[in-house]
Amino acid sequence: MNLAELYKEMGKHSWRILDAIFRNLWDYEYVPIQIISSQARIGEEKARNILRYLSDLRIVQNRQKDYEGSTFTFLGLSLYSLHRLVRSGKVNAIGKLMGEGKESAVFNCYSEKYGECVVKFHKVGHTSFKKVKEKRDYGDLHFSVLAIRSARNEFKALQKLQGLAVPKAYAWEGNAVLMELIDAKELYRVRVENPEDVLEMILEEVAKFYRRGIVHGDLSQYNVLVSEEGIWIIDFPQSVEVGEEGWREILERDVKNIITYFNRAYRIEKDINSAIDRILQE
Ligand SMILES: Nc1ncnc2c1ncn2[C@@H]1O[C@H](COP(=O)(O)OP(=O)(O)O)[C@@H](O)[C@H]1O
Ligand SMILES: [Mg+2]
Repeated sequence: MNLAELYKEMGKHSWRILDAIFRNLWDYEYVPIQIISSQARIGEEKARNILRYLSDLRIVQNRQKDYEGSTFTFLGLSLYSLHRLVRSGKVNAIGKLMGEGKESAVFNCYSEKYGECVVKFHKVGHTSFKKVKEKRDYGDLHFSVLAIRSARNEFKALQKLQGLAVPKAYAWEGNAVLMELIDAKELYRVRVENPEDVLEMILEEVAKFYRRGIVHGDLSQYNVLVSEEGIWIIDFPQSVEVGEEGWREILERDVKNIITYFNRAYRIEKDINSAIDRILQE
């Protein structure tokens, strides 16, 4: 996916149509064409043509079943969220795709305000126990709403953890989180010289997160970045607050995962239970 090229293809009418879809995502999975047309202030026939064009570009998905309506694809929601970051003056240029996985696509970008950054576009929803309950009451929460929530959850967690070993969080729009670029490699890709110290640093960070009321929820060798300068912990969409249902089991699982990795990769013996007790006592 080349966001920069696609971005240039978009005209003022296309953005207005995407604006209208975005505003109505919470009420409709497929936003009716009449609503799009009236809120975008574009006649229905012209709106339909633009929506066809956007569908050819894989930005929206149109549906005729039951009624005529449109929704975002992952690409479309990401492009639109980027547009909001640009419009608010926080992003000035989008760069290369740094990595794309099952759950996100991460791009380099440049901001006059913040310098070199990354934008992380969320693909899926991470629902904690509390939110799953809400989901049942709410009916069908579709991909866009879940991805947006997931981005919000990550942004909120990063904000609470500012000053600790996490990327600085600059902005959240749609499914996009704008954050500091960390120049370091994932733990699983490197052989560290001082594994005991690195494990201690990670557990110390987990304790600091806990003191600020946050549990990571997906701590692993894939979500720790390391360099000569130190360590950073990334990837917070599934984080929970201390006190939320299940938080303690989630914390225990995080600690177990990381200690198990160090045991497997570096033969370090560390007692999981006493590591957990130490975090909870602080
Ligand atoms: N702030 C960042 N600085 C540098 N690289 C990052 C940053 N955030 C994410 N990445 C890169 O993108 C990859 C995916 O990001 P991550 O937040 O772990 O999302 P996912 O849920 O897809 O695993 C990371 O493994 C890392 O290589
Ligand atoms: Mg990750």
